[in-house]
Amino acid sequence: MPESPPEEEPALHVEGLDVTYGRSLSALRSVSLTVPHGGVVALLGANGAGKSTLLRAVSGTLRLHRGTVTAGRIRYGDTALDGQDPVAAVRAGVVQVPEGRRVFAGLTVDENLRSGGLGLGRRSPALIRESRDRVFALFPRLAERTGQAAGLLSGGEQQMLAIGRALMAAPRLLLLDEPSLGLAPLMVNRIAEVVREINAQGTAVLLVEQNAGMALALARYAYVLEVGEVRLSGPADELARTDAVRRLYLGEAEDGRGAA
Ligand SMILES: Nc1ncnc2c1ncn2[C@@H]1O[C@H](COP(=O)(O)OP(=O)(O)OP(=O)(O)O)[C@@H](O)[C@H]1O
Ligand SMILES: [Mg+2]
Repeated sequence: MPESPPEEEPALHVEGLDVTYGRSLSALRSVSLTVPHGGVVALLGANGAGKSTLLRAVSGTLRLHRGTVTAGRIRYGDTALDGQDPVAAVRAGVVQVPEGRRVFAGLTVDENLRSGGLGLGRRSPALIRESRDRVFALFPRLAERTGQAAGLLSGGEQQMLAIGRALMAAPRLLLLDEPSLGLAPLMVNRIAEVVREINAQGTAVLLVEQNAGMALALARYAYVLEVGEVRLSGPADELARTDAVRRLYLGEAEDGRGAA
C-alpha cells in the first residue's frame, strides 16, 4: 500500500489486523480494510466470519468481549485506535451501533438518547439539542415517543433508537452491525433509507449486513470475510456481479442452472 500524506478528511485504515479471543481462538487474520471519508463500505460474511469482531476492534469494545488485537494497526485519520477504549474512539468521531439493537429497556426514549452523548465531556446544550433535532428529523416516530420506555418499542423502533443514540455523539464514522436483522421488509427499506440519509449528511458508514442485497445497493465498496480473512473485496457493483457473491450471499443459483 502506498504511503499517504497526513489526512484532513479522516479515513479509517485497518492494516494487517489479527484478533484472538481468550488465549487462543483466532477470530481475524491479516485483515486490511479502508473506509474513505464520507463513504459507505459494506462488510459481508457468514455467521462467525468475524464481522462483529472487526467492528469491536475499531470501536475499542473488543476488550469487553475478552478479545485482543495481537497484530496490525487501526487508524482513523491521524488517531491510532488500536488499544484504545470506546471513549477514545467516540472522541475521535467513531461510534458503533452493536448488533441486537441493544437499548436500555427500562429507560425512556429520551433517556436512551441522552446516554448517547455521554463520555464526550461537557458539550453545550445547543449542540446536544442540534443532535437531538437531527435524530428526530430522521426518526419522527421517536419524537412522538420520548417519554415511553424503550422496552415497549417495536423491534424496528428499537433499532432506530439504537442508531439515534449513536448519532447523539455526532459521529463522523458510524459502525453499523446488522441493522436489518430480524426486521420486516418495510422496516428493512426504512433502515436502508436512513443509512443513505445519514451518509448524505456527511457521516461515513461501515455497514455489516447479512442482507447482502441491501448492503451492496448502499455501499460503493465491499469486503467479504470468510472465517476471519478477507476473501473478496472490490467496488460493490462489481462484487454483486461475481458468481461467488451471487451464489453465497445473494441466494442466486449458479449461472441460472437451478439451485445447487
Ligand atoms: N466474546 C467472544 N469470546 C470468544 N469467542 C468469540 C467471542 N465473540 C466472537 N467469538 C468467536 O469469534 C469468531 C467471529 O465471531 P463474530 O461475532 O465476529 O462473527 P460475525 O461475523 O459477527 O458473526 P454473526 O454474523 O453471527 O454475527 C467466531 O468464531 C466466534 O465464535
Ligand atoms: Mg456479528
